[in-house]
Amino acid sequence: MADVTIRKPQPVPMLDFSRQFAVLRQEIFDSIEAVCTSQHFILGPQVTSFEHAAATACAAPHAIGCASGTDAIWLALAAANVGPGDAVITTPFSFFATVSAILRCGATPLLADIDPATFNLSAPAVAKLLDSPVGRNVKAILPVHLYGQCADWDAFTALKQNHKLLLIEDAAQAFGATWNGVPAGALGDAAAFSFYPTKNLSAMGDAGLVTTTSAAIDDHARVLRAHGMRRRYYHEEIGWNSRLDSIQAAVLEVKLRYLPKWNQQRRDHAARYDQLFHKANLTADSTASTDKGIVLPITDPRAGHVFHQYVIRTPRRDELRQYLTDRKIGSEIYYPVPLHLQTSLSYLSYKQGDFPISEAAADEVLALPMYPELREDEQQTVVDTIASFYQ
Ligand SMILES: Cc1ncc(COP(=O)(O)O)c(C=O)c1O
Repeated sequence: MADVTIRKPQPVPMLDFSRQFAVLRQEIFDSIEAVCTSQHFILGPQVTSFEHAAATACAAPHAIGCASGTDAIWLALAAANVGPGDAVITTPFSFFATVSAILRCGATPLLADIDPATFNLSAPAVAKLLDSPVGRNVKAILPVHLYGQCADWDAFTALKQNHKLLLIEDAAQAFGATWNGVPAGALGDAAAFSFYPTKNLSAMGDAGLVTTTSAAIDDHARVLRAHGMRRRYYHEEIGWNSRLDSIQAAVLEVKLRYLPKWNQQRRDHAARYDQLFHKANLTADSTASTDKGIVLPITDPRAGHVFHQYVIRTPRRDELRQYLTDRKIGSEIYYPVPLHLQTSLSYLSYKQGDFPISEAAADEVLALPMYPELREDEQQTVVDTIASFYQ
């Protein structure tokens, strides 16, 4: 009798941090030991050193470490003097912090819909808002470089010039991404990064960073992150405690050295997913998903994508996700509820139907396992399992 071996698909986790830690273990322990030996736990030499390394990596003249990506958005806006009476235009298709940080600095968020191909804030939709009566109080635009791909910076730069606005980047998902070769962090007046543990550059806890091309924003952000205090116990204004821990900075500086390699591995994995999906005849012909096909991520030729996430779209998303979960294949939805439909933001008076492209995306997007140490056989398993769902 023939020996028939039935191969059971292996589980594929959405993320597996232990693979990265196994490689960096000693370097990370050494860096933490140095902080313990110095007994300097908040700000201090490790933070200054990481700020310099991060500024160089982003080609930005200034970098200011802080406590989280959420705080980094608030700090960038507040340090640029965005506050009560000002409006800031952003996207409803992002993490909650993009909007809550605008509210935190006392400004009003104004939402505009996204581009259906890249899921990033649509510059034409922003232009329309700027030309409407509510556009009068707009002081800044806050595009998000979603999933690791920069928003259309050519179009936003034109809007900045025509309307004399500030451009602030929510680059939480995009360390190392570029637009026309210019790194995220050096594109706008200021940018905010998150080092939350799932990010492509990740701390071992919460951490964030502001970068800026402006010496004035740099100076103001440093004061604001330390209780509005330039001279100890003399408070010029009401800031906050958003200092970066030395241990996080030390870990981040170790990881920053590996980031170009990791981002390249992410791009390679994305290209392999694309190939495997094409080979399996699973792709739809256009940006519109169909019952039978999925839409693969679309990269603007001007963008240096870092694939923080590899996100497909399909109208059968929830069914597909359940099918993958049943077979222990990780996936995630970024984000299932657009911000204009969040309960806590209902007082902004938006309603269902206001941003149809964001609403459709929220129903259809699905992020697949993506991290530098992901193996080829695991990608094959993900695509084979999706192929069996569509059979
Ligand atoms: C687009 C975006 N903005 C802001 C944040 C907030 O960053 P953090 O979680 O570090 O506060 C995140 C990350 O969660 C994010 O993905």
